[in-house]
Amino acid sequence: MTSPLAVVTGGSRGIGRAFVLEAIKRGHRVVFSFRSRDADAAETVKMAAALGGEAVSVKGDLERFEDVDAVIDAVREQGQVSLLVNNAGIGEEFTLEQLTREGWERSIAINLTAPTFLAKAFKSDLIAQRGAILNVSSDGGVAGSLHGAPYGATKAGIIGLTKTLARELAPHVRVNAIAPGPVATEMWYAIDPAVQEQVMEREMPLKRIAQPEDIARAGLDIASWPDASGIVVLLDGGRIM
Ligand SMILES: NC(=O)c1ccc[n+]([C@@H]2O[C@H](COP(=O)([O-])OP(=O)(O)OC[C@H]3O[C@@H](n4cnc5c(N)ncnc54)[C@H](OP(=O)(O)O)[C@@H]3O)[C@@H](O)[C@H]2O)c1
Repeated sequence: MTSPLAVVTGGSRGIGRAFVLEAIKRGHRVVFSFRSRDADAAETVKMAAALGGEAVSVKGDLERFEDVDAVIDAVREQGQVSLLVNNAGIGEEFTLEQLTREGWERSIAINLTAPTFLAKAFKSDLIAQRGAILNVSSDGGVAGSLHGAPYGATKAGIIGLTKTLARELAPHVRVNAIAPGPVATEMWYAIDPAVQEQVMEREMPLKRIAQPEDIARAGLDIASWPDASGIVVLLDGGRIM
């Protein structure tokens, strides 16, 4: 019997890479997408192989509809999907004053449209496999974001998407979300260091930044819980509570 197939978007680095490796450890074959960093994607493939698993990378810019379709086609070549992890996201920072229509559309496309249409594409696979979707939101989608309107709105939007699909795809497919606080990846380190320090000092009771592996382990646990659907797990070091 072949191993179940997992799809992870944004698996070249950061939290997505940790999802790929955790899925491999749990016995999945993985197809992951990435945008542009070939060397990072190759490193993820290598790390998966070192664990004795198989990860296939697919390059595609999820901002572009035709690339979303190309990723879907590449996944279909690998078999039927039983787990979809909508992880890829951008956290571009905008005040309302700085916000442009392009910036807004880009976040909507990557953070919200791509996850929706990937779920649509793999719906029948997931139903047939009694599979699961895990969407990666953010504490900023729950309590408002430091990054500004596109990030805060799309990360809240993906929570609405999670609950809607949890209803629509029940009883066959479970759909859940994880909402991390600060995680040690390039996205977090791109934030002004003074702001990072302030957040850690004033907002983080545990005074700890999560590691990508912490989020991946928790996320795949959630995706495996037979009674969980439509839930959003905040994993934010007590930031919001
Ligand atoms: N880090 C945090 O503090 C934090 C907190 C809460 C939630 N999150 C969420 O967790 C998820 C992963 O974040 P991260 O911190 O791991 O981010 P990251 O380190 O910036 O990695 C982003 C990943 O997404 C891919 N990606 C970005 N734009 C893309 C596009 N247009 N098309 C296709 N792939 C694209 C990147 O591919 P390339 O390598 O090719 O660029 C990379 O694999 C995101 O949804 C983010 O919003 C992160």
